[in-house]
Amino acid sequence: MPVQARRLIRKMRGGAQAHLIEADDGHCYVVKFKNNPQHRRILVNELLASSFLHYLQITTPETALVELSPSFLEGNPGLHLQLGNRKVPVEQGRHFGSRFPGDPDRLAVFDFLPDVLLSQVANSPDFLGAFVFDKWTANADGRQTIFFRASVRDGESAGAGQARFVTSMVDQGYIFDGPKWRFIDSHLQGLYHRPMVYHSVTCLDDFQPWLDRMRHFPEEVVDQACKQVPREWLGEDEAALEQLLTRLLERRKRIEYLIEDACGNARGASFPNWTGSGR
Ligand SMILES: Nc1ncnc2c1ncn2[C@@H]1O[C@H](COP(=O)(O)OP(=O)(O)OP(=O)(O)O)[C@@H](O)[C@H]1O
Ligand SMILES: [Mg+2]
Repeated sequence: MPVQARRLIRKMRGGAQAHLIEADDGHCYVVKFKNNPQHRRILVNELLASSFLHYLQITTPETALVELSPSFLEGNPGLHLQLGNRKVPVEQGRHFGSRFPGDPDRLAVFDFLPDVLLSQVANSPDFLGAFVFDKWTANADGRQTIFFRASVRDGESAGAGQARFVTSMVDQGYIFDGPKWRFIDSHLQGLYHRPMVYHSVTCLDDFQPWLDRMRHFPEEVVDQACKQVPREWLGEDEAALEQLLTRLLERRKRIEYLIEDACGNARGASFPNWTGSGR
């Protein structure tokens, strides 16, 4: 079920020219539009990645289809996309929304943390899960995340928990080489720009449990995710998407090789403690 856009808040940074919009479910979403300057397929990539990451239990925002009605667009005549020196109106219909993790007036969300805080992120092993995911899906971008403070419960202790920084994976638009929908394997792709998040890695087993979850990724999860993609985002692309996902499933058996190759090659910079597969 899509949510309806009800208040435009502000434009976000970035090449897709996303906008922060409040919807009628009470949440705010960073919305990438169907006619964004990158490509319509970016939305398909984002939506599929969201389903897959949730299945894999790698932290990522909730997502929604955000519907922009004619009356919302009329009420926000300033909303447009900038293509060179042209102003292009945003299309009505369903767009991709990545949920802001709280009230944007109260919760500070950061694109970057200094290393001293990065080392204290509660769910920092998620960077390792995301690395496996980015290799599997041939993400052509570096890894991007957001950080914010949330109440985290540690192990056995009951109660509200402690406020700590958590990270959440965003910007999956360039998996499958973005609009090209192909798998180009480069060991430099998919890395987070702060190598310290990988410094604990010595062997393939350090990428568990995500490695096994991706090696045995269920076809049904892929089929279900595919069914969620609005037909209005696909146009003539249905057959191409099916082929892409067939190849993605075939790549499950290459994941170990992709990780070993990437870690071996980036050993100096990102994986200084890498000793090989460990098997
Ligand atoms: N769910 C979210 N909650 C809060 N901020 C978000 C969320 N999703 C994305 N952002 C922020 O919105 C901005 C744009 O997001 P994103 O990087 O996905 O867009 P982009 O246009 O594809 O960027 P790029 O130019 O890096 O390709 C970034 O600053 C990002 O951190
Ligand atoms: Mg980005």
